Amino acid sequence: MTSQSQIHRAYTNIALIKYWGKRNPDLFLPMTSSLSLTLQAFYTQTQIESVEGTQDSFILNGQLQDAKATAKVSRFLDRFRDLTGQAQALRVKSYNQVPTAAGLASSASAFAALACAANDYFKTDMDRQTLSTYARQGSGSACRSLFGGFVLWHQGQGDDSDSSYSQTIDAADWDIGMVVILIDTQAKKISSRQGMQDTMASSPFYKMWPETVAEDLAEIIPAIHAQDLIKVGEIAEHNAMKMHATMLGARPSFTYWQPESIIAMQAVRQLRETGIPCYFTMDAGPNVKVICRLSQADQIQEYLSKYFPMDRLIITGPGPGPHPVDQVTLDD
Ligand code: PMV
Repeated sequence: MTSQSQIHRAYTNIALIKYWGKRNPDLFLPMTSSLSLTLQAFYTQTQIESVEGTQDSFILNGQLQDAKATAKVSRFLDRFRDLTGQAQALRVKSYNQVPTAAGLASSASAFAALACAANDYFKTDMDRQTLSTYARQGSGSACRSLFGGFVLWHQGQGDDSDSSYSQTIDAADWDIGMVVILIDTQAKKISSRQGMQDTMASSPFYKMWPETVAEDLAEIIPAIHAQDLIKVGEIAEHNAMKMHATMLGARPSFTYWQPESIIAMQAVRQLRETGIPCYFTMDAGPNVKVICRLSQADQIQEYLSKYFPMDRLIITGPGPGPHPVDQVTLDD
């Protein structure tokens, strides 16, 4: 008899204060705490079911995935198999409402949805905080997708996995959102895992990173609670640029930026000069995310359409934590 989980939907998050570097790569324990906004427009929906035989399989958007992608999913499921003593082979079916591996945090929603589906399938009954420590071990940023709104991922202490979890610090039920500029939706050449490892190993600028993150966090948290969009945007933009600067200082130097990323950043600056508060952030990919008032997102999208096609400009408000859904649904 086959058994299956419900379909679980988890949303991506975009960091305002970035996670860049692991102190313990085996346990995915980060060098610093980080802080994100969960997004409503991008998500993954995942269901797990038992299969005959000994091989797991992984189907993403209807396509059977290769051995490498499947191994990543299997390793994650092994943690639940070890915990429960259930050795059953599994089929994981996922649907991404987000371009995969293009710096739009698809791995965050993917491992958060997988963690929820596994918790359901294996009946482990973990609370969200504990589950965030599991999701973290699939992809660091997935730790934050276990919650909605503004989410703080605690760096934790030493090698204590349980101490590095996430929590919502603000529901984001105020006028904040993002316009995502899709510059390139192809999979990136340097994974975030590789990028942060190379930066830590060779960039002299990395030494300053942990301290500067602590300062940015201390400043942005009160700004979020004060619903001060301008301050939140300024600090987030500053933090993102500092992270990208650490990569330029690596040996050899590398960057995720493409020429159009710079055009996007310049356009955001120009618009800001006209008096509309908007700020950019970027992750391990070329896409640019514009932090703004949700009520002004249409206006910002309109302005950016001078430079980018309208279908590459996606408006999103804050998203919720994961939840089960009755059936897979993808937005247009
Ligand atoms: O979770 P990962 O391994 O995809 O790393 C994410 C790293 C950044 O997106 C660049 C920053 C962040 O905090 O999400």
